[in-house]
Amino acid sequence: MTDKELVLQALKAREMSYSPYSNFAVGAALLTKSGKVYLGCNIENASYTPTNCAERTAFFKAVSEGEREFSKIAIVGGKVGEKIEMYAYPCGVCRQVMREFCDVETFEVISALNEDVYQKNLLKELLPYGFGPENL
Ligand code: THU
Repeated sequence: MTDKELVLQALKAREMSYSPYSNFAVGAALLTKSGKVYLGCNIENASYTPTNCAERTAFFKAVSEGEREFSKIAIVGGKVGEKIEMYAYPCGVCRQVMREFCDVETFEVISALNEDVYQKNLLKELLPYGFGPENL
């Protein structure tokens, strides 16, 4: 699966965003090492704190289906109805969830404006000196 295809999947996931409070819609597409894609969107809540980010939705869907090995994730986010002009990088909590299941040296995070314009980082760049399962 190319980066471009994964970004297109993230854009598709974004259409399902439930974000009536922030009006900030996020979509994520998570690729497993075996080639399967899990989509996620942000899901907000009237009580605010139960809100789940798109990235974690994708991870939790995948892990709950038995997946444990991941190669990359594409993320797209922006105000509903507006052109996306800023890269949506994963929040700190989502980076920590990635840290739990991904190799920081090889897992790729693709933050996209659209399927042709995106930035790519390794997880180790987004979460240096992190704390993971092997630290316990
Ligand atoms: N959000 C995500 O889904 N992913 C991120 O990486 C950053 C923030 C969501 C949470 C909330 O629904 C909205 O964007 C505004 O913070």
